[in-house]
Amino acid sequence: MIEPKRHTVTAALPYANGPLHLGHVAGAYLPADIYVRNLRQRGKDVLFVCGSDEHGAAITIKALKEGTTPQAVVDKYHAMLRDAFVGLGIRFDIYHRTSSDLHKRTSQEFFLELQRKGVFIEKEEEQYFDEKAGQFLADRYIIGTCPNCGNDKAYGDQCENCGSALSPSELIDPKSTLSGTTPIRRPTKHWYLPMDRHQAMMEEWINTGMRHGVRQHDPKEWKPQVLGQCNSWLKEGLRPRAMTRDLDWGVPVPLPDAKGKVLYVWLDAPIGYISATKQWAVDNGQDWEPWWKADDTRLVHFIGKDNIVFHCIIFPMLLELHGGFQLPQNVPANEFLNLEGRKLSTSRNWAVWIHEYLERWPERQDELRYCLTTILPEFRDSEFTWKDFQEKNNNELVAILGNFVQRVFVLCEKFYDRQAPKAGTGTQQDVSLWSSIHAELEAMVEHVDDFRFREALSAAMNVARAGNKYLTDTEPWKLQKSDPDRTATVLLNGLNVAAVLSVVLEPFLPFTAAKLRRMLGIGELDWENAFRTDLIGPGRELGRPEHLFKPITDAEIQPEIDRLMATMQDNNEKPSTASASAAVTIKPTIEFDDFAKLDLRVGTIVSAERVPKADKLLKLLVDMGEAAPRTVVSGIAEHFAPEELAGQQVVLVANLAPRKMRGVESQGMVLMAEDAAGKLRFVRPAEAMPPGAGVR
Ligand code: MF3
Ligand code: ZN
Repeated sequence: MIEPKRHTVTAALPYANGPLHLGHVAGAYLPADIYVRNLRQRGKDVLFVCGSDEHGAAITIKALKEGTTPQAVVDKYHAMLRDAFVGLGIRFDIYHRTSSDLHKRTSQEFFLELQRKGVFIEKEEEQYFDEKAGQFLADRYIIGTCPNCGNDKAYGDQCENCGSALSPSELIDPKSTLSGTTPIRRPTKHWYLPMDRHQAMMEEWINTGMRHGVRQHDPKEWKPQVLGQCNSWLKEGLRPRAMTRDLDWGVPVPLPDAKGKVLYVWLDAPIGYISATKQWAVDNGQDWEPWWKADDTRLVHFIGKDNIVFHCIIFPMLLELHGGFQLPQNVPANEFLNLEGRKLSTSRNWAVWIHEYLERWPERQDELRYCLTTILPEFRDSEFTWKDFQEKNNNELVAILGNFVQRVFVLCEKFYDRQAPKAGTGTQQDVSLWSSIHAELEAMVEHVDDFRFREALSAAMNVARAGNKYLTDTEPWKLQKSDPDRTATVLLNGLNVAAVLSVVLEPFLPFTAAKLRRMLGIGELDWENAFRTDLIGPGRELGRPEHLFKPITDAEIQPEIDRLMATMQDNNEKPSTASASAAVTIKPTIEFDDFAKLDLRVGTIVSAERVPKADKLLKLLVDMGEAAPRTVVSGIAEHFAPEELAGQQVVLVANLAPRKMRGVESQGMVLMAEDAAGKLRFVRPAEAMPPGAGVR
């Protein structure tokens, strides 16, 4: 493979039919932004393009729903999407739109070139037509039962339940989404891409990386789920797919015998990456072509998993048949992000909208970026909960990163009047501090190149952890009196770790990195500088110690949870067990031996009373089949009245070390289930058990 000189990075063009939500951000845009920011730090030539996808049934159906025109819909949402990206610090070189003239010309020329090359098959076929609406029905205009899985809301082009690609004629019991009527069949002519003819070529390119006898990519670098989806399509056998539609919204088919027809949105949208590049080139006095055509260009598409087939099979096939273009070297598609135990859903309003988040949490962009990066659905679906957001903020950003920087700055203010001190000679401790940091830096770059951004962030955070450990080990706050020289060395090192942090955090937390740079009085530095240990020299004027992060209180987080609860009620949904467990993030895996250490037993509550001056605590006497009942202090007073408890069976951890709470020794712990709102409920055997029965 050729060493890349240029990186063209694209992020899926979002449909301009709704605002941006968490799922979009975690699916494509945040990983892409982290990737691009780090490549730029490393001195790579990168172009990062995106824009609004403004055609297709997704838009026209929305216009119908909102009682307005498609143009009004795309104008409104294009502006919202653009602003949401800016607000979150997702920094494209250009955010374009597919309703632009340049895009129209670009996609028409692309189509014409394919037509000249004889790529398409022109076919007249019977298609579904809604007589009442006076319109042909393709894609989302028609729903019916999926022949593969029985989902009765499958679209004419795809079943979202089982992921299979469909054509309207395969749907069982098809209905028009416009009028609800059963459509009739009418002949109409379209331009088909005979994908079946190019199956072998695609198979070879995807699975071996070979194209025209040259290795283009290494399939081992592709995510297994991306290769898996491609191969399941290939196994089913590629079928001809119409590249035109009977619609009055879209890019007109540039042929005389195609009146009233437009390009299929999945033909024009990916060409949007190219037209965005052209617009960027015009705006910046550059040449667009090397970014798509030079063989030392590396093209990477960031997308969500529902876009895999279009980016790994259809678009590359079109690029290949057109000729002259590079194919993607990687398509690091992410899986889906769930929200509090449920699938994100625009129609059920089950989402966190970015524009609303930015209003409610101004100045907390990085907190969201951080939390989302730690849960990116890189290899499997993952889950966002507000509790997790709060905990990650409080336990990681505040307690690790913020705390480290704060300690260094406060001590430099106290001891040196906000001037970087002069260092003495270093010790072995200092050497190992820096070598552990350098190892993290190397790990971080490797993870970024592997599209493992969760691990990359964790390496970056390890720099702050190393800094914290260094302070804890050296205790400069105690050392100043006895050894001012050593104190100065330690704190100068601390300042330099903070400077390194301002570099390594930039891809993940750009707002915080900028703040840190201001405090240190330094500018943006490139990646090589992260390996320096002397970025901050003695005598440098320092800014005031500022908190990089603030703790998030329960009171701040509760309205977010309440809002989702209200949505659930609006939808006539009950908090299900699935969403109850959502408030809990699964802890790291443990070994069986760890589990085997727990002794869980059934107990019967004999009596319960309040613990004086403790709102949350109840003192329970629990019969566990032993000589005498055990005393257990439990934090459940806000959930149960003492009188409801006597006689109830519960599950207890029976071998937990005794602990004194409010002067009462607790000899065990009661287990309870917690729902998304934090409400507790009994966990008990379905049938009464003798006290002391084991739970395994
Ligand atoms: N608009 C599509 C979606 O939201 C993505 C289009 S990506 C591009 O699923 F390739 F078409 F640009
Ligand atoms: Zn299905």
